[in-house]
Amino acid sequence: MHTNRPVTRMFSAAPGWLSGLRVFLMILLGAGMVCATALAAPPSGAKGSSATSAKGAVHATYVGSDTCATCHEEVAKGFASNPHSKMALLHGNAKGVSCENCHGPGSEHVAGGGDVTKIFNPAKASAKDVDAKCLSCHAGSHPDFLRSPHAKANVSCISCHDIHGSKDETLLKAPQPTLCFQCHADERGQFSMPFHHRVKEGLIKCSDCHDPHGTFGNNNLKNTADQNMICTKCHTDVRGPFVYEHAPVKAEGCLACHTPHGSQNARLLNMPNINVLCNQCHNAVTAGAVHGQGQGSSDSVPCTSCHTYIHGSNINAAFLR
Ligand code: HEC
Ligand code: HEC
Ligand code: HEC
Ligand code: HEC
Ligand code: HEC
Ligand code: HEC
Ligand code: HEC
Ligand code: HEC
Ligand code: HEC
Ligand code: HEC
Repeated sequence: MHTNRPVTRMFSAAPGWLSGLRVFLMILLGAGMVCATALAAPPSGAKGSSATSAKGAVHATYVGSDTCATCHEEVAKGFASNPHSKMALLHGNAKGVSCENCHGPGSEHVAGGGDVTKIFNPAKASAKDVDAKCLSCHAGSHPDFLRSPHAKANVSCISCHDIHGSKDETLLKAPQPTLCFQCHADERGQFSMPFHHRVKEGLIKCSDCHDPHGTFGNNNLKNTADQNMICTKCHTDVRGPFVYEHAPVKAEGCLACHTPHGSQNARLLNMPNINVLCNQCHNAVTAGAVHGQGQGSSDSVPCTSCHTYIHGSNINAAFLR
């Protein structure tokens, strides 16, 4: 009776697969076990938060995607090219992730002629229940999601992903940055400032610096051993290490002097005047012997006209040319 469950089918196809795929299979097997647990759970169990399981889908059994297709022809047809099917279809005759992997066992829904109270519909479920369903397979690649600012604000997987409607490879509701700007209006303004990373122009993406699925760091910033790596993976020339480091670059990081999204100031600097920026930390310089009168003031030549290699140098301890 359960032979139709695609989880089983995919697993039986396993031996010939590449090792990378085995990871998915293990995840899928895990998901199958979750499903099996859900089936065995008593109706009043902890999983009873969704209408579906509360109303007795725990007694429902799996009927297989072919049965779903008899009534949901359009959806089923579209699903053949979905990433949830495609991978498996490319590797033999297994069917990939089935309808019921996401919608739960469907026998009672079918017996009721399409009783909508007997099937799990993510669009009507709480963010928490949707996330749990998706993470039953995707927790491996997105382990930090539940503690991300998005999850905490009830922004769920399907706030950004559209399983049946999207033509995008990663099933996004809209491409970046449009997707992000729908909720982050302030950032839209920042990327319109005179100097900005060309995100709106499509040159770089929000997800080059952020992982919307959450990270260990603040602001969903990507995890790297060295936080400057978020920037230096592209700006390799300022990465170092240098014989003569400019201490704040490593200690405070790029944001000690730069604004990441956009700025009124050239070079995305935090301040309009370079000398004022430098003198936040070097206020003694104005009176210094090496600097002529007025050299440290905000209207004199910029410090960087002499201290050119401001991110560090292999030649000169004062970062001179
Ligand atoms: C006998 C026909 C039939 C079969 C078979 C069938 N459905 Fe449905 N399904 C319906 C009807 C009718 C509706 C209600 C459509 C509507 O209201 O627009 C529906 C609605 C749904 C909904 C939306 C529920 C909601 O809350 O609005 C989902 C999800 C769904 N079906 C999934 C499935 C899945 C998964 C399968 C296979 C396990 C399946 N259906 C098999 C007839 C069927
Ligand atoms: C990877 C998870 C996943 C799989 C697999 C999946 N669905 Fe869905 N389905 C969803 C989500 C999420 C929604 C809610 C969509 C939304 O945001 O409106 C949904 C919605 C639906 C609806 C309601 C559509 C509507 O417009 O209200 C139907 C019907 C449906 N799915 C049928 C199917 C069928 C049939 C299959 C198998 C061919 C299938 N689903 C496979 C996740 C999935
Ligand atoms: C039964 C396991 C399972 C469930 C449940 C599931 N997925 Fe998937 N998902 C997969 C597999 C397998 C793939 C295809 C392999 C891959 O590319 O990662 C995939 C692919 C994807 C992709 C495209 C990945 C890419 O690299 O292009 C997205 C996005 C995605 N799933 C989101 C979701 C969301 C959102 C949900 C919940 C509504 C969900 N999935 C539920 C197993 C699952
Ligand atoms: C705030 C928006 C947002 C939310 C919420 C979100 N995603 Fe994504 N997701 C994205 C974006 C954007 C990408 C594409 C990233 C890229 O191109 O680098 C993506 C990519 C993916 C991918 C494919 C690539 C990868 O990184 O593995 C999967 C799978 C996926 N998401 C699953 C999920 C699941 C499961 C959830 C819920 C637990 C979820 N997403 C929640 C925005 C979101
Ligand atoms: C060049 C890397 C980079 C890109 C691209 C980028 N961000 Fe950021 N973002 C950052 C950094 C770094 C911070 C942390 C700023 C801080 O701590 O002052 C941040 C902070 C944020 C914050 C928190 C803002 C706050 O004031 O607390 C949001 C929201 C955000 N980014 C959204 C976005 C969106 C949406 C996009 C795409 C439209 C995007 N970011 C593109 C690097 C980037
Ligand atoms: C459906 C609305 C929605 C979408 C779409 C969305 N976000 Fe968010 N985002 C939020 C909410 C709500 C929060 C938490 C409250 C806050 O900090 O603004 C948040 C938080 C964040 C934060 C952390 C801010 C902080 O203060 O720690 C970043 C970074 C971020 N989002 C980036 C993105 C990126 C990048 C995208 C697009 C891939 C995106 N968001 C798409 C609603 C959304
Ligand atoms: C995905 C690659 C990428 C990442 C990550 C990135 N940048 Fe950039 N950055 C660029 C590109 C490309 C430009 C040139 C933009 C242009 O010409 O419009 C640029 C421009 C700049 C500029 C202005 C340079 C000038 O000549 O005016 C500064 C400053 C800067 N980035 C700092 C940062 C900081 C700080 C971070 C980390 C928070 C960062 N970048 C992350 C690609 C990146
Ligand atoms: C102590 C302040 C300071 C810190 C910290 C800092 N920068 Fe800069 N950066 C500057 C100044 C000042 C300029 C402008 C130089 C000029 O106008 O000649 C600049 C210019 C740039 C430019 C434009 C191209 C260039 O090399 O002149 C990029 C890109 C850049 N910085 C990236 C970064 C990155 C990435 C980090 C972190 C690893 C970082 N900066 C840390 C002060 C700083
Ligand atoms: C966030 C604080 C900070 C900012 C902003 C800053 N610096 Fe520094 N700078 C330091 C520290 C700390 C050192 C190391 C001092 C030491 O070792 O005695 C240093 C060292 C230097 C040195 C080498 C000093 C030596 O003794 O050889 C020069 C030159 C220098 N900075 C120039 C600049 C210029 C020019 C700017 C503006 C573009 C600037 N700094 C911005 C903190 C800062
Ligand atoms: C006309 C060129 C020039 C300008 C403009 C200039 N400097 Fe210098 N600076 C030098 C020279 C030359 C040295 C001495 C280097 C040495 O001793 O090897 C030096 C040394 C330094 C040192 C290390 C020695 C000390 O005094 O402790 C610091 C820090 C410094 N400058 C900061 C600044 C700051 C901040 C500005 C802008 C407000 C600035 N400089 C503007 C040429 C300049």
